[in-house]
Amino acid sequence: MQEQFFKEALSNNIFEYITKATEELKLESYVIGGFVRDFILKRGTAKDIDIVTVGSGIDLAEKVASLLPTKPKVQIFKTYGTAMLRYMDVEVEFVGARKESYSEDSRNPEVSEGNLQDDQDRRDFTINALALSLNEASFGRLLDPFNGIEDLLKNKIIRTPLNPDITYSDDPLRMMRAIRFATQLSFEIETPSLEAITKNVHRINIITRERIVDELNKILASPKPSIGFLLLEKTGLLKKILPELIDLKGVEEVEGQKHKDNFYHTLEVVDNISENTDDVWLRWAALLHDIGKAPTKKFNKKIGWTFHSHEFVGAKMVYKLFKRLKMPLNNKMKFVQKMVLLSSRPIVLASEVTDSAVRRLVFDTGDDIDSLMILCEADITTKNPKKFKRYHKNFELVRAKIKEVEERDRVRNFQPPITGEEIMETFNLKPCREIGQIKEAIKEAILEGIIPNEHKASYDFMVQKGEQLGLKK
Ligand code: CTP
Repeated sequence: MQEQFFKEALSNNIFEYITKATEELKLESYVIGGFVRDFILKRGTAKDIDIVTVGSGIDLAEKVASLLPTKPKVQIFKTYGTAMLRYMDVEVEFVGARKESYSEDSRNPEVSEGNLQDDQDRRDFTINALALSLNEASFGRLLDPFNGIEDLLKNKIIRTPLNPDITYSDDPLRMMRAIRFATQLSFEIETPSLEAITKNVHRINIITRERIVDELNKILASPKPSIGFLLLEKTGLLKKILPELIDLKGVEEVEGQKHKDNFYHTLEVVDNISENTDDVWLRWAALLHDIGKAPTKKFNKKIGWTFHSHEFVGAKMVYKLFKRLKMPLNNKMKFVQKMVLLSSRPIVLASEVTDSAVRRLVFDTGDDIDSLMILCEADITTKNPKKFKRYHKNFELVRAKIKEVEERDRVRNFQPPITGEEIMETFNLKPCREIGQIKEAIKEAILEGIIPNEHKASYDFMVQKGEQLGLKK
């Protein structure tokens, strides 16, 4: 590649300051890793820049900060010998080139000083070991000892610079990273790497769950997440991380009746939904929407395979799974639970669309109705083109009905038209059970379409209901 091309990459003027500082301190410096990879792939603007210097990264960072007009604060991480500063929204990290040696039970290596080649050797993938010179005499020159540029542009392959067995065993997070990059970039993982990952699967135990979830989120946020989940399954990582999904694998046959393989179905649903939403939590919902099917599966002689209340069981499993992976147990978790719980509702509707069923669906789902419809449409994976068309058509009907019911009845964020106070005043009551009964009856009547969602009609209905309960105005 042309040096001119890379000079353009470095036109962000932070690099000119780094070169100046490098010359003043008589060091050698390079920009390395993700910035170089993503620039070559034209993958948007970088938020992180990694600088490696043969010498002290901390000294270099302080020098650069003193030269920059903004005089940014340098954050120093003494234990790691690294330093970071922020310049125009970009985090620039400085580290001295180093050799690393790892022990069995930790991701934290013993570190000693080294040269650029040592530093490139210890990197995870050839495509992440590309470096560009920031030294004045060779500014913009590409240093690529493992031919990473070909792996990036031609071979489209994830490959480790050194023996993959060592690279993955040294830092098992790299197993997740390999699969994540393969998914994000639609690359293959070379066979020796795949074999080494398979062999080192047990080493994932030393990685914190937060880091694992970070990578899972990046896989899920990719254009075609199934690439990653198939690799996680193939290598044995998925069984360690999300065994609930492995339990969905396989097709059983009893008396000539089969059910579908819910693992591959799930991956299809995740890919489908990824074409229609970037919301990673909705993608999580797609991934987990059928997990309740494994524990609820039964064979019934008359009706075949059943998965009774799998949505309910699945929603409970979501909580346990989030807890195990140390994911936040917040509104996002609740959203995923809700989507799993309601995931079959519109499908039932699609065969018979009645006003009251749609009204109930909107009432139960609230503002998440649009997300639920996206999930349910993604759930259509039938290979029968006639059925595929029919189901989608029915969902169009459901969507139209939702709109109609919404405009007329406004039950999306239902506020009872008659309050408890009004009931108490009307019948001259103190707090008692009947108030709740009347409120519930009014809500039911609105959802069933017996009365409109209006005050006058609800008032009349309240009076009628009160009389039935033996109350006097
Ligand atoms: N690296 C590594 N092993 C790891 C993590 C990182 O060798 N487990 C190296 C790679 O050379 C990587 C660089 O450190 O390119 C920076 O890591 P990081 O910022 O985490 O990742 P990026 O490659 O920049 O990519 P992304 O931001 O997409 O994670």
